Amino acid sequence: MDTELIRIKKDGEGGMLSDGDLEAIARAGGYIRQGGLVAFPTETVYGLGGNALDPEASKKIYEAKGRPSDNPLIIHIADFEDIYKITEEVPEEAKKLADVFWPGPLTMILKKSSVVPKETTGGLDTVAVRFPSDVVARELIKASGGYVAAPSANISGRPSPTEVKYVVEDMMGRIRAIIDGGEGEIGIESTIVDLTVSPPMVLRPGYITNEMIGSVLGEEIETDRAIIDADSGLKPKAPGMKYKHYAPRGELTIVEGNDDNVVRTINELLRSDRENGLKTGVICCDENEGRYDADVIKLSGKRGDTGEAAHRLYSILRSFDDENVDKMYSESFARNGFGVAIMNRLLKAAGHKIINPTEVEKRQK
Ligand code: TXA
Ligand code: MG
Repeated sequence: MDTELIRIKKDGEGGMLSDGDLEAIARAGGYIRQGGLVAFPTETVYGLGGNALDPEASKKIYEAKGRPSDNPLIIHIADFEDIYKITEEVPEEAKKLADVFWPGPLTMILKKSSVVPKETTGGLDTVAVRFPSDVVARELIKASGGYVAAPSANISGRPSPTEVKYVVEDMMGRIRAIIDGGEGEIGIESTIVDLTVSPPMVLRPGYITNEMIGSVLGEEIETDRAIIDADSGLKPKAPGMKYKHYAPRGELTIVEGNDDNVVRTINELLRSDRENGLKTGVICCDENEGRYDADVIKLSGKRGDTGEAAHRLYSILRSFDDENVDKMYSESFARNGFGVAIMNRLLKAAGHKIINPTEVEKRQK
């Protein structure tokens, strides 16, 4: 299949969409209306969009991604009122959260209505709904008829794309068009909150934290235990969270603890990898840039800057693949605020391999 590459220039007044941009987006919306697939930017990661109300389009999405079809898709809308057609009921809590966080990186799980095909929800009777803030995404959704099913635009198992070059790498020749709208601001996927249970529960951490949701709803919000505790053997409530995800091709290990111990331990590991003829990489904060002896060093931003770290994470993981790195080590991030989501993705990318030299030392004493 020929894939059309559409560049959004945002050269209208004040960096807004120009008439040319809107025309191109309308054309892409037409492809989705006709049953085709279009990859598009959002504020989190690039999405692979198809008409959410057309079961054939959903099947095409699974096929293009190489994704198991029991893994449900998120339906993207561009007007709050559109939520009523695809859901059976919209609880007060959903309205409150939408008021504060929509448009934005929050996905809500609600009971689905009969117009939503089972193919889109992976057989579930609930539906995931998201109203993204990205202006290109919103225009595309409107041009597509209002309901766009969109997983991240990567081949299943690979890191989600935050830059169009990675969408091209994974999707060229498989879909009708790719819209290049620059880099996603946030860089990791939306927070998913399940509103079919009481109290609501976070199924996937993201930029919108449990504390932010809790403060709007006036109750404490917990995260699905299966996600926090990888060894629990529990089944994640968001089916997609059970798959090995975000993984680079090389082997990633996270090292956490006291800064000096982390640097020393990683350097020891790097030395032995090099002796074994392996190509090595490190993910570290700007402050530690000069302290590692690795083939490839990737900076996550200033220490503690979780926004920057999230923004860069998937591109860093992908670039290790570009450079054929065999073994990678990452410093860890504090598991609070947005750091919860970063550590969730990093741990998945590492297959939960994490070492803490400080703890090991304490135990040996
Ligand atoms: O930021 C995002 O959410 C991006 C952009 C493109 O919007 N999309 C995204 O979609 O991350 P995807 O398909 O890669 O991840 C969707 C996740 C999966 O883990 C899936 O299992 C879960 O949402 N999900 C979808 N519908 C669900 C439902 N009804 N109940 C529970 N989990 C659901
Ligand atoms: Mg995904």
